[in-house]
Amino acid sequence: LAQKDYKLWLQFDKTANTVLASEYKSNIQGIVSLENSETSKIAMKELENGIAALLGNKPEIKSEITGEKNLIIASQKSLTPDLQKTLQDDFSKINSEGFLIKTISFKNKKQIIITGKNDIAVLYGVFNFLRLLQTNKSIQHLNITDSPKTNIRILNHWDNLDRTVERGYAGFSLWDWQKLPDFIDQRYIDYARANASIGINGTVLTNVNANALILTPQYLEKVEALANVFRPYGIKVYLTARFSAPIEIGKLKTADPKDPEVINWWKNKAAEIYKQIPDFGGFLVKANSEGQPGPQNYGRDHVDGANMLADAVAPFGGVIMWRAFVYSEHDANDRAKQAYAEFQPYDGKFKENVIVQVKNGAIDFQPREPFHPLFGAMPKTPLMMEFQITQEYLGFSTHLVFLPKLFQEVLESDTYQKGKGSHVAKVIDGTLYQNKLTGIAGVSNIGNDLNWTGHPFAQANWYGFGRLAWNPYLDSETIADEWLRCTFSNDENFIKPVKKMMIDSREAVVNYMTPLGLHHIMDTGHHYGPGPWVSDLSRPEWNPTYYHKANKNGIGFDRSKSGTNAVSQYAPEMVKVFNSLETCPEKDLLWFHHVSWDYKLKDGQTLWNGLALQYQEGVNQVAEMQNVWNKAKKYVDSERFNEVKMLLEIQQKEAKWWRDACLLYFQQFSGKELPSGVEKPT
Ligand code: GCU
Repeated sequence: LAQKDYKLWLQFDKTANTVLASEYKSNIQGIVSLENSETSKIAMKELENGIAALLGNKPEIKSEITGEKNLIIASQKSLTPDLQKTLQDDFSKINSEGFLIKTISFKNKKQIIITGKNDIAVLYGVFNFLRLLQTNKSIQHLNITDSPKTNIRILNHWDNLDRTVERGYAGFSLWDWQKLPDFIDQRYIDYARANASIGINGTVLTNVNANALILTPQYLEKVEALANVFRPYGIKVYLTARFSAPIEIGKLKTADPKDPEVINWWKNKAAEIYKQIPDFGGFLVKANSEGQPGPQNYGRDHVDGANMLADAVAPFGGVIMWRAFVYSEHDANDRAKQAYAEFQPYDGKFKENVIVQVKNGAIDFQPREPFHPLFGAMPKTPLMMEFQITQEYLGFSTHLVFLPKLFQEVLESDTYQKGKGSHVAKVIDGTLYQNKLTGIAGVSNIGNDLNWTGHPFAQANWYGFGRLAWNPYLDSETIADEWLRCTFSNDENFIKPVKKMMIDSREAVVNYMTPLGLHHIMDTGHHYGPGPWVSDLSRPEWNPTYYHKANKNGIGFDRSKSGTNAVSQYAPEMVKVFNSLETCPEKDLLWFHHVSWDYKLKDGQTLWNGLALQYQEGVNQVAEMQNVWNKAKKYVDSERFNEVKMLLEIQQKEAKWWRDACLLYFQQFSGKELPSGVEKPT
């Protein structure tokens, strides 16, 4: 039943039009692999199966290059000296994970070669070549060189050892700890394959809030089994390290990072792990955040904690990803300021193998947040991006929201920290400050649901995350286009409207949940649905009322110089923009300002009317998504069509729920009628 869903974007349906189909057939008569590693066997199988499915007949498998119209896969070292020479220039353009796909003339015969500096790079090349066919591109004269722009392209699974997934909406965890290490679920292989197809090269198996059990020998042998499955696909395994592990599983009295016994314990633990998993990636750490233990429990700081762990993994080439998501009830006047305040002063103090992992915005994965002020503000410290692919605050796996649009907005924001053009993407790929260590993390939306991600369109968010991690400058429209073609159909009558639907879906969710810079007004705990009225939680900064601050005078959080002065954490150019009501982009207005209900927006509407109209616009946009989808019926299998149709109906209902709940609640402060055009709540 769920065959289609399960295959993700690796559908390989025979979708090419006849002209292209004959071009493909005439250019691919045989496949030659010059390699023999496990990875190249995988690459070969992918090509063989993919081409057989796409073209309808199996290509001939050859053991050497004879005749013409071959597809050759080989890594650099296996190429003949003259081929090496021919490709010398191209090789100088790619990095160790980059690939070439090129039409060449070899022994006077036309061939297509897919190559790179090692077998994993070649595998990336193979998946990219197959994507050319899946998306109906010409392969007549190929000349592609492509390299990932970041080193660590990683999924963060918030998976617990009991298989529940924190903020996971697609079933239980894929990792079946009880049956591991001896039982290897086919899902592990399919997971690795899907990730490799988009260039993801790392996975953190455990939740940032996990206990220390994963670091015990009983679990490490299970981790080793997973690492063995993922290795040929170029995926390294990482684990979360609970800071108090030396106490909990090491029987020490303290976890003080300056304590010699603690230091030693982590050194031995690292050695133990690397003995079993020589290419273990390293640790992801959430410390002194939301009640998790950390160095501050011992009067130490983030640098002490991160560097101690960094020393433990350094001899083995490991990395510490230290999270900057911190806030505490002790300094609650503006939670948005805390990460910057705690981390920025430590710029340049972290060891070389530490990378600080920063969420895209300063609060917490809201439908829209301005870029995090730490980006660009720590020139001597590598920072990695943390996006959330699972839709904790964006309708779980029930609402259709195409996240690459959100990711792109953040990546292309200009921080101005090194003058105009200091885009977040340049911080992330290391080009702004020449950082060597770079990375992008995505909190996974994957579970054991038959279709992996719950909502069929949530697969696009996993796909798009991988593509942007590879190249943070990619356009979200290109990503949507690729994904739709690979997943559904190449028919332009399908692609055009559905692509637009995906692109518009991000603004729709902002409109019906948190327009004009509102944030954190969802219901408490589970974070689903509206809850702007919640005000009785024990910590002030958990309450939605803390964020919208609606009263008779207006609404919004004053973070300007006359408010909490959070604006001052940005570069002077951005302070100027955000600080003034006139220049602050309206999409961020209530993030930075408390604005009177009668304030005139750029289009002449009062704030109250504008807000109400935005909520209505969100509802209208979902209705339009439904229209588009209904017309897509003939291009989509009935199972996926019906699933999405039902989900959109829920989304429509819930967009209205958000609109009505928020407007009725805010209306008691504004004291104003709803403007015409806004449906009255029933
Ligand atoms: C959010 C989320 C938590 C998570 C935390 C984090 O607050 O609700 O479940 O643990 O982010 O990123 O650490």
